[in-house]
Amino acid sequence: MIDKVFLEFDKLAFKNHLITWYEANKRTLPWRETTNPYYIWISEIMLQQTKVDTVINYYERFVQKYPTIEDLAEANEQEVLKLWEGLGYYSRARNLHHAAKEVVEKHGGIVPDDPVILGTLKGIGPYTRGAISSIAFGIPEPAVDGNVMRVLSRVLLIQDNISEARTKTKFERFVRELISHRNPSAFNQGLMELGALICTPTSPACLLCPVQTECRAFAEGMEEQLPIKLKKKKQRVEPYTVLLIQNEEGKVAIEQRPNQGLLASMWQFPMTEKHIINADLLKESLDERYSISVEVEKKLGEIRHIFSHIIWELDVYAAKTNTEVAEQLRFVSVDELADYPFSVSHLKIREWLYN
Ligand code: ADE
Repeated sequence: MIDKVFLEFDKLAFKNHLITWYEANKRTLPWRETTNPYYIWISEIMLQQTKVDTVINYYERFVQKYPTIEDLAEANEQEVLKLWEGLGYYSRARNLHHAAKEVVEKHGGIVPDDPVILGTLKGIGPYTRGAISSIAFGIPEPAVDGNVMRVLSRVLLIQDNISEARTKTKFERFVRELISHRNPSAFNQGLMELGALICTPTSPACLLCPVQTECRAFAEGMEEQLPIKLKKKKQRVEPYTVLLIQNEEGKVAIEQRPNQGLLASMWQFPMTEKHIINADLLKESLDERYSISVEVEKKLGEIRHIFSHIIWELDVYAAKTNTEVAEQLRFVSVDELADYPFSVSHLKIREWLYN
């Protein structure tokens, strides 16, 4: 059945213009120099929610350290998290590590070229499944992310809210109709590249666009109004007190987060919920939680960190203790801090130790 959105839409011209433009204008990126599915997998996981410019360095370091999927499977999780430090969404690294082990154990170290099997691996959702299938194996599968939805909302003049899951499913159906079977990789990457270079969120460069003739939003002067993206629920604000506690040897207290949930298994400076405003209560609560007695010295500053669903508001204090051991805490020298994976907000706090 043909979707009515394609009536009078020149699919052939669209895919030809897109692919020709992509081949002539694509950026040189390290993961475009390879067809190794393991490398393409790494790049696609890193590129979720993260800009290309940021990913390049992380990608290079990652494939250098773990050149084969066996190397990654054998790695220790803390080491993998350390390499991911600063990139955010750390469950991506944990899932990738877990899935690499599964590929080695169950598939002899060969990344499955069946999209259905790929989709059963941890951390591989519909987008990544489609990206690996098309880019590494030349299988015509959709790889629809926010950028692709923006491009197609404009080209096809779609006014559905792209924050809704069913809109994504609809776009995946459209891509199945449109995708080039001769070159699925260039088609999918062409859509991504068009979204990054021409069909940008604000002020799209329509005059340079290779599919301007096919674009319905351009014809109607609607490109700036699309896509429709209605706000999701507002993030919840969580206030915390963070303590940079140093003992008499100058060692600093750090703790590891639980192995589930937000920033799982990452390290941080001790953090307590901020309903405790008074210094005596704070001391009491630290004693209760870590069996440690501290002297709070001064406020160092405040940090606000925005996650997808939570906002952390951190008030950071310097503190002293005369203990060397405490429950759940580890005392390490300032130099040793660099061996532990920290989340971005705590990396910023760590900088204050050097000032
Ligand atoms: N974003 C997601 N995947 C990408 C790719 N393969 N190239 C450039 N940007 C991307």
